[in-house]
Amino acid sequence: MVRSLIIGCGHYLPEKVVTNHDLSAVLDTSHEWIVERTGIHKRHFAADGELTSDLATAAAWDALKSAGLTPQDIDLIIVATVTPDQTFPSTATIVQSKLGCRGLAFDVSAACSGYILALSTADHYLRLGSMKRALIIGAETFSRIIDPQDRKTYVLFGDGAGAVILRAENNPGNRGILSTSMHSDGSYRDLLYTDGGPSLTGTAGYIRMLGREVFKHAITKLVDSALETLAHKNIAAEELDWLVPHQANIRIIEAIAERLNLSPDRVVITVAEHANTSAASIPLALCKGVSDGRIQPGHLILHEAIGGGFVWGSALIRW
Ligand code: ACO
Repeated sequence: MVRSLIIGCGHYLPEKVVTNHDLSAVLDTSHEWIVERTGIHKRHFAADGELTSDLATAAAWDALKSAGLTPQDIDLIIVATVTPDQTFPSTATIVQSKLGCRGLAFDVSAACSGYILALSTADHYLRLGSMKRALIIGAETFSRIIDPQDRKTYVLFGDGAGAVILRAENNPGNRGILSTSMHSDGSYRDLLYTDGGPSLTGTAGYIRMLGREVFKHAITKLVDSALETLAHKNIAAEELDWLVPHQANIRIIEAIAERLNLSPDRVVITVAEHANTSAASIPLALCKGVSDGRIQPGHLILHEAIGGGFVWGSALIRW
């Protein structure tokens, strides 16, 4: 049986750090409000001229190094992003050219759930046998699509990139990507969206969101998705070593962990330092848990995320 193993991970965060205090100097908000409602303390913003593909390429090099591979070893690149450098070509092909390699490269667009969609898409390619090694990147420059006049959204997001390398393995033992599930329901598309786009306005637009509505849907849909993915493998939530969730809001993360009966010390949380980096948030959190030694070989990990559309899903991995 072929399974996809994660054999390396990497990350990149832009140098510029923006604290809640920095924001409260230019916007009618406060450090206390942001921390109490979201758990966010700071975020990184890309420098002028620093592009999503630059963040993605830096994370890719870091992941390649950790896997002991070169770009020539990769035959599939998928970039999850809703802040591409250009409308086309895809950011994945730009990354491919920056890395100097060949194979197939394309983007997926599922906002905050983009990384899980990319992971699950690559997993299907690898298990079908047509590809051997895949580079999956979640990369965003959300600072370019948040409205500096809108305190309801401006304080929530940050920039960054995280990447993993997957390898098709014929004898995986009990390791690898065990199960994924993805759903979408476009009837919710007016709850979280950008008010522009190439066809609509000829601009990228700014994020608009009905926060309370998104909050409620996030908890119910993500708990259902987590239970569905666990049920595929007859695994109980209590057996998980780590929940490595999308990092939008500490209250959403805590509510989901509680419903899954997971104590807070089994959740990798980075929202305080990174804010919501959309498709980059899960691989950034994963890298953090791996690099600080919390995530160990054999550990059972669950990812979950929801994003605009809505698109939502989860992935179960034996590290
Ligand atoms: N600073 C100070 N006050 C603010 C701010 C701010 N940055 N933003 C909103 N407020 C005010 C509002 O104007 C409102 O004031 P009013 O009562 O006088 O009208 C008050 O705070 C409460 O606003 P709500 O929007 O009702 O606050 P809520 O408790 O719902 O928190 C939040 C808002 C943090 C956005 C929350 O709804 C949330 O996290 N929702 C999930 C959305 C999310 O994370 N989306 C990311 C993409 S999807 C995903 O990743 C899951």
